[in-house]
Amino acid sequence: MNHTADVLVIGSGAAGLTLALGIADKAKVIVLSKENACAGSTNYAQGGIAGVYNIKDDDDSIAAHVKDTCIAGGFLCDEKTVDYVAKNAHDAIQWLIDAGVPFDTKEEAVGEDQSPYHLHREGGHSHRRIFHAEDHTGKSIQETLVERAKEHKNITLLEGYNAIDLITTRKLGLVGNKVVGAYVLNTKTNHVETIKANFIALCTGGASKVYQYTCNPEVSSGDGIAMAYRAGCRVANMEFNQFHPTTLYCDADRNFLLTEALRGEGAQLKRPDGTRFMKDYDERLELAPRDIVARAIDHEMKRLGADCMYLDISFKDEEFLKKHFPTIYERCLKVGIDITKQPIPVVPAAHFSCGGIMVDSKARTDIQGLYAVGECAYTGLHGANRLASNSLLECVVYGKAAAQNILKHLEDEEEQEITIPDWDESQVTNSDEEVIITHNWHELRLTMWDYVGIVRTNKRLERAMHRIEMLKKEVNEYYSNFRVSRNLLELRNLLDVAEIIVKSAMMRKESRGLHYNIDYPDTLEKSGPTILMPKSN
Ligand code: FAD
Ligand code: SIN
Repeated sequence: MNHTADVLVIGSGAAGLTLALGIADKAKVIVLSKENACAGSTNYAQGGIAGVYNIKDDDDSIAAHVKDTCIAGGFLCDEKTVDYVAKNAHDAIQWLIDAGVPFDTKEEAVGEDQSPYHLHREGGHSHRRIFHAEDHTGKSIQETLVERAKEHKNITLLEGYNAIDLITTRKLGLVGNKVVGAYVLNTKTNHVETIKANFIALCTGGASKVYQYTCNPEVSSGDGIAMAYRAGCRVANMEFNQFHPTTLYCDADRNFLLTEALRGEGAQLKRPDGTRFMKDYDERLELAPRDIVARAIDHEMKRLGADCMYLDISFKDEEFLKKHFPTIYERCLKVGIDITKQPIPVVPAAHFSCGGIMVDSKARTDIQGLYAVGECAYTGLHGANRLASNSLLECVVYGKAAAQNILKHLEDEEEQEITIPDWDESQVTNSDEEVIITHNWHELRLTMWDYVGIVRTNKRLERAMHRIEMLKKEVNEYYSNFRVSRNLLELRNLLDVAEIIVKSAMMRKESRGLHYNIDYPDTLEKSGPTILMPKSN
């Protein structure tokens, strides 16, 4: 079955749904999700969304938010972008409030012109400015936006649809490079369908699943980044993959995130012997930006040969913990850890892709009609390390900007009679050895964890590149001969993304933010983004 829409949005997280809701009054929109609509990272966000909402509340300011973002970003952020996002935070948060997101409010009465919202503080933030819904902000945002989207008559939400590749005029042998549609695998029928659209937005989330240990959900396999690169878009800063310092270390529940808001409320990091260690690494202690905290934990684990470090908030009032962190309290209790009484075992895990598809201030990519929003995009906001809770903000600010831009151009778009050929399955058969896929999946993720993780060396990067090249050869051959499956598509994309990450890491001859290379330990005085140009350009 083939489909047509004015706008195709690939991804139903905060980025995709903000965009879709922004245009749906004027256009027919199809929104795709690889699994159910709530399966992306948005649903798992805990801490919240950062923004200076009401400066009368305390001494916070947009300038302070900009400054904190640039410091955390290792001074590699694009200041114009940071300023734009910080200035638009109020409107973005108000839009979510109006959509029905139940952010926590303060208990005490507030004056007329003061914000009634309860704010968290996280690492790298000089003020409390994180709007949150208890410790499940992402879930509240995701469910609210899905509800709004399902109510809208112009939005068709297709769940279980896995986009494979973009169709462009260049691929069809026509002039220019304009997007005209996408091939998508309907995972319920296992058939590849075509969706025709003059505007497409990639909102596919990040690529942290390229690492063995990640707090990301299954869908974060960098599909949008790989698809855009293959179609001719530049990508930038892919060496900066963020590792969250504190995920639960426990066989029964590995990689569950323990929000930085815990440290914002005073939680302390401790060695197995109970001593604190952050004072040896940064004067901001546990509230240093997360690249510094993750590296400190990694260093202590390697130095002591320890399996994990500990996060201790047990000194806080029990009722306070249960009220503010109910998800974490319950989840830890399930595996036998009472956070009100004992420290929590923690390890870092891959968390966020700071780089992505290069876009301008309207979320436009290098391909006409193609936009990228959210974690798959590179706007310049995060630089060498993302400041906590700036990602959801970026999704909403750029989702709105992209929607406005598409609306502006929607009417100029002339009806084009382009014939898109159906997906060709005549040369392929059913796979005879799925084991190749599972084996290569495992090998790739372990290679990335061991050689391209928190601390890198030239030799490790070379080793990784060598493995990736071999795996790519094998998987490309497999892709040409067998019917596609979700596992195969994700592996192919992750291999493209892994290659981009390693290439970018090799190009950076310094250590900065999340990229730490023992062979280049210094930070250069002058630096810029690492930009990769696809071969086809
Ligand atoms: P996602 O929400 O990841 O959505 C991606 C969508 O794309 C999904 O619908 C998926 O199904 C779809 N998709 C992917 N590939 C395909 C394909 N090939 N075909 C069809 N559909 C596809 N950020 C903050 O700002 N504050 C926080 O407190 C915070 N906490 C976090 C906690 C955790 C555990 C995690 C993992 C992340 C957290 N982040 C946080 C980061 C933030 O949640 C994400 O960066 C953000 O939600 C990304 O939103 P998105 O819309 O870009 O992508
Ligand atoms: C957290 O809650 O610690 C995650 C926040 C973020 O990734 O921005």
